[in-house]
Amino acid sequence: MVIGVPKEIMEYEYRVGLVPAGVKQLVEDGHRVLIEKGAGLGSNIPDGAYTRVGGEIVQRAADVYRRAELVARVKEPPESQWRYLRSGQGVFCFFHFAANPPLLKAMLKLKVTSIAYETVEDFEGRLPLLTPMSEVAGRMAVQEGAKCLERPMEGRGILLGGVPGVSPARVVVLGGGVVGSNAARVAAGLGARVVIMDINLDRLRYLADVMPANVSTEMSDWLAVESAVAQADLVIGAALRHGARAPILVTHRMLKKMRKGSVVVDVAIDQGGCTEGSRPTTHGHPTFCLNGVVYYGVTNMPGAVAGTSTYALTNATFPYVRRIAEEGIKEAAVNHRPIAMGINAAGGRVTYPALAEIVKTRAVPIEAALKGA
Ligand SMILES: NC(=O)c1ccc[n+]([C@@H]2O[C@H](COP(=O)([O-])OP(=O)(O)OC[C@H]3O[C@@H](n4cnc5c(N)ncnc54)[C@H](O)[C@@H]3O)[C@@H](O)[C@H]2O)c1
Repeated sequence: MVIGVPKEIMEYEYRVGLVPAGVKQLVEDGHRVLIEKGAGLGSNIPDGAYTRVGGEIVQRAADVYRRAELVARVKEPPESQWRYLRSGQGVFCFFHFAANPPLLKAMLKLKVTSIAYETVEDFEGRLPLLTPMSEVAGRMAVQEGAKCLERPMEGRGILLGGVPGVSPARVVVLGGGVVGSNAARVAAGLGARVVIMDINLDRLRYLADVMPANVSTEMSDWLAVESAVAQADLVIGAALRHGARAPILVTHRMLKKMRKGSVVVDVAIDQGGCTEGSRPTTHGHPTFCLNGVVYYGVTNMPGAVAGTSTYALTNATFPYVRRIAEEGIKEAAVNHRPIAMGINAAGGRVTYPALAEIVKTRAVPIEAALKGA
């Protein structure tokens, strides 16, 4: 198979879809790997590191797309590159279609086989390709939130851990999954008083067992969230319903009750956000003021620490790339349920049920959709 790796061109996105170790393995397996010139530089990987292991450097993104049967990238293909995509071509990346219906419509029209990292699901119901980026984003959420709390950033001027004689900040984490538990641990390590809220009682039991003493757990319901965020200095939005839009947990009314200069870091913004009135921001302009609250909604948080994130991501994605390259998309989907779960659309049809209602259609079985791909 020919596998192509275009350079990411989203603003402040420095990750890359394959590292040299992966390219070496694919080449040894008998595949060709095309890398767009400079694709690895943001992650400190020069072109020579790819060519030394058998990768081929290609000058233009258009040529990567034209020749590749499978495109392995990090973020969704940007609109400027949609014209290079073709029917039946596999694209493996973060799509987050639930927050981006125009992208879904475009991929359907082009009949691209869209394999979304964020919906690949293992046999235990976990999301193994979202996990590493959620670990990064959860940890980053606290450092970004701590920065936003500083006065020059329009924050309340509160130090997360406090100091002897002055109380630490209150941090509320909405959603106790991978992002939430990583955020809670880092915030607790800095000395903050942390509350994790989730709707999954078993998860709360587990977190109550493993978290440090300055982390408490609470069932997430409307009243509990309203009361917790009103007292919070920092709220971290980390709730997810698999494949669907994030639930709105912080309403306008709740934002009005928060203290001026409090901060919301809405990590779930890539799935539409947990906060009413939210909109995506970038690393260049990460915050805006929402009812007196500092709102942070960067959709590609891990992109800023690409030296860590590229390796964390490709450690998880590579076995799937290798399997798809080995068996072809159709066989891999039929033989391997986690890959089938990743396929959101193929042959112009939606295959992931949670997305079907977004484009007012019915999801079709993957085998049927792939026949038309
Ligand atoms: N912005 C970024 O750069 C970035 C990076 C990584 C992940 N993310 C996003 O962060 C979000 C969380 O990811 P994750 O890996 O932690 O997911 P996860 O599935 O591990 O955890 C989500 C948690 O939310 C809980 N939940 C669902 N509905 C809830 C509700 N109403 N109230 C409280 N909790 C609720 C679930 O029970 C679950 O424990 C996702 O949207 C993911 O795409 C964003």
